[in-house]
Amino acid sequence: MRPIVEFTRVTREYGSRIALDDVCLRLEPGELTFLVGPSGAGKTTLLKLINREIRPTSGEVWVDGIPAHRLKTHRVSDLRRRVGVVFQDFKLLPRLTTIENVALALQVGDLRISDGEAMDRALDALEAVGLGDRGKAFPHQLSGGQQQRVAVARAVVAQPPLLIADEPTGNLDLDTAWEMMDLFRDIAAWGTSVLIATHNVEIVTRLQRRVVTLVQGRLVRDQPAGAIGRMAWLASS
Ligand SMILES: Nc1ncnc2c1ncn2[C@@H]1O[C@H](COP(=O)(O)OP(=O)(O)OP(=O)(O)O)[C@@H](O)[C@H]1O
Ligand SMILES: [Mg+2]
Repeated sequence: MRPIVEFTRVTREYGSRIALDDVCLRLEPGELTFLVGPSGAGKTTLLKLINREIRPTSGEVWVDGIPAHRLKTHRVSDLRRRVGVVFQDFKLLPRLTTIENVALALQVGDLRISDGEAMDRALDALEAVGLGDRGKAFPHQLSGGQQQRVAVARAVVAQPPLLIADEPTGNLDLDTAWEMMDLFRDIAAWGTSVLIATHNVEIVTRLQRRVVTLVQGRLVRDQPAGAIGRMAWLASS
């Protein structure tokens, strides 16, 4: 099967600083993978390469068959349609209702979708994350956990084959973080590949999914699902 993400010898420098150093990585369709490592290890850099927010200094980044490393700006939307993104700070638009936030993501991705269809599909996505009754609320009227659910609905409403999340539970308490992880597990079970950068030791060790570890830009460990011991650097953080 074709990998959903493939990094081949990827290096990314910021000036003289090496943020990612000769990284090779393959993610299979439908897999849930954690990306861990100390602060500054290169996790966000790796996610930004997948979304082509940045390009590698050298090496290749393939996402669902698209060469992100050499993608021209006017083709970036082809890639973005295939990648849903969730951030630590939700990034919802404050003046739009939750359903409008989700619907807008669909319409930005595909200009042919009518308002009515976008709203119908946005409601389906909100129902899937357990917020079908909060479509008319504005982001500030929701809890942090609920806002993050809306952000997840927005990320998956176009049914992308890949979801990437950068510290999605960083602003949530542990109980809410666990609920969020259940949601990511459901999304992976529905067939979407999910890649989550996180510092949350508790969740990573208990979930026993694949864990990729970066340290100082290098991929130092790749543990398959079910093989997760307590990681030394995590235990001390
Ligand atoms: N725009 C930038 N300009 C210069 N250096 C950068 C830039 N973005 C990241 N870096 C550097 O690249 C390295 C990797 O940063 P990155 O943000 O990918 O780490 P991270 O693993 O996401 O860290 P954290 O856990 O704190 O979010 C760090 O040394 C960082 O200082
Ligand atoms: Mg980061």
